[in-house]
Parts: sequence; C-alpha cells; structure tokens
Amino acid sequence: MSYTTVDLTPRIGTEVRTDLATLTSGTIARDLRVLLEKRGVLLFRGLRIADEDQIKFASTLGTIRLEHGLQITKITPDVAKSPIFADYTKGTYFFHIDGTYTDMPGLASILHARAVAPAGGQTEFGNTYAMYDDLSDEEKNYLDGLEVIHSAEKIQRLANPNPTPAQIAAWGEAVNPPKRHPMVWHHRSGRKSLILAHTIKSIIGLDQAASDALLERLMTWAERPEYIYRHDWQVGDLLIWDNTGTMHRVVPFDLSCGRELDRVTLLGEEPITGPFRYHDQSNEKTAKYLP
Ligand SMILES: [Fe+2]
Repeated sequence: MSYTTVDLTPRIGTEVRTDLATLTSGTIARDLRVLLEKRGVLLFRGLRIADEDQIKFASTLGTIRLEHGLQITKITPDVAKSPIFADYTKGTYFFHIDGTYTDMPGLASILHARAVAPAGGQTEFGNTYAMYDDLSDEEKNYLDGLEVIHSAEKIQRLANPNPTPAQIAAWGEAVNPPKRHPMVWHHRSGRKSLILAHTIKSIIGLDQAASDALLERLMTWAERPEYIYRHDWQVGDLLIWDNTGTMHRVVPFDLSCGRELDRVTLLGEEPITGPFRYHDQSNEKTAKYLP
C-alpha cells in the first residue's frame, strides 16, 4: 500500500492514511519529511503501534534522540510511570516549543496514544511559519531585529505560581539557565518562523512592561483559529509534529485520569538561527536593530 492524505485544516495538520508495513519500510519516509515541514502535524489514525514499530518508523525519518537513556518515554502525569516528566504536566498547558533552552531543539516528536483523557487532554498545535508569513512587512522587519530570553522557570511559574523548594531545584534558572534566541528563526530552507512560546521571559532591549505587552499581542495573533489544529486523541493514534515549525500545548485534564502517550523524539538537524547569527556568529549587532 502507498498512502493518501486528507488535510485536517487549511493551514496546519494532515491525516496520512497508510498501513504499518508501509510506514516501517521507510518507502514513504522522504515524502513524509516534506509533508511534515509543509503541514506541521501528521496524523495516523488508529495504528495501535507496538513500541518497536514506533522506534522503527521514527528511525526512517531521522535520528532518535535518547531521553534519559530511553528511546521511548512515557508522557503522563502518573509519577510512577513517568518520574521525569510527571511534574512538568501543568507547564505544558501553555504554548511552547520543546527545547528552546538549547541551541538546537529536536526536529520532531512522534506520539502514540496509549490512554486518553475522558475530558480535555487534547493537544493544540500552532503553525509558526504561517503566523510569520501573514504579518505585515513592517512587523516582519521589526521582529526580525529582536532577540529574546527563554526560561523554563518562566513557564513553570505560570503553572506553579508558588513553587516548592524542590520544584525550584528541579526547573529553576540555577539548573536550567535561560537561553537567548532570535524571535524569528531563519531556516536553512529559506523559510522563516516565529519562535513564540510562554518560555519567553523578556525581549532584549525592551523594558519588562513593553516586553510583556508585545508578547501578549503576538500570542493573541498566534492563537487565531486559522493557525491552530486541536487534536482530539483516540487510543492508537500516532501523531508527528514538526517541532521547528509549530508550537504546542495541552488542554488541561484530570491528572488522575490515566492519560498516557508514548513519545519518540528526533534529534534536531539545524540550530536556531536568526538574521544576526546567519551572517555573523556574534550577537553584538543586536542593538542597532532595536527601536
Ligand atoms: Fe512540549
């Protein structure tokens, strides 16, 4: 069998209909990579794939990144099953891009739904290429000149306004140092996307009030319905998102309901690059682009 596709929304998300043997054979891997970059999210309904097949399929698309030594990690608030990620669940209720505390975020993640929430628990994805493309030229030029600071602590504090010392020890800035990035990612392909996330704690060169106001305005823009695909999970769904061209968040759900997704992440293939680093490895030219 080859495959057929059905777009889930006009701007983001495509369902791919095929069978497991085709996926794991790698015969359509090149097509899927192109489609993933173009559509942001690819969905394969009802596959109920085994762990080894999820790993095999992921390997046809890129290089699997070990997470704490594992090829597959459990994404669940059940601390017994996911001691590493359970405490981060509430932070995922806010739009973010995985790995913005590093120079090179993962290329993509592949989720397999093992158990779903009876209410809530959907995952929403936003197309950060489309958000950028639709801006006015004036706005593009302005945002192209900005750099921002991403902080894990910033997004975790949104979810946990009164953190315990143990939480600060787990995700505070002392252990997860903030990271400077451009506001706009200049991809090797020539396309540009916003690196927009609630991990941004400040915009360099703006005071905090102006920074917060600009981020709020951009987030309001980013959450326009035409940029968003909300995935309503069914057991057995396999879904890939392009982590370099989308942002995502989870709709709040009952943390005791047993929701459980298996995740495989692919290594990043290009570092985040903005207009400055694109031409010059230093950040020293930033100031002249600011208002
Ligand atoms: Fe995430």
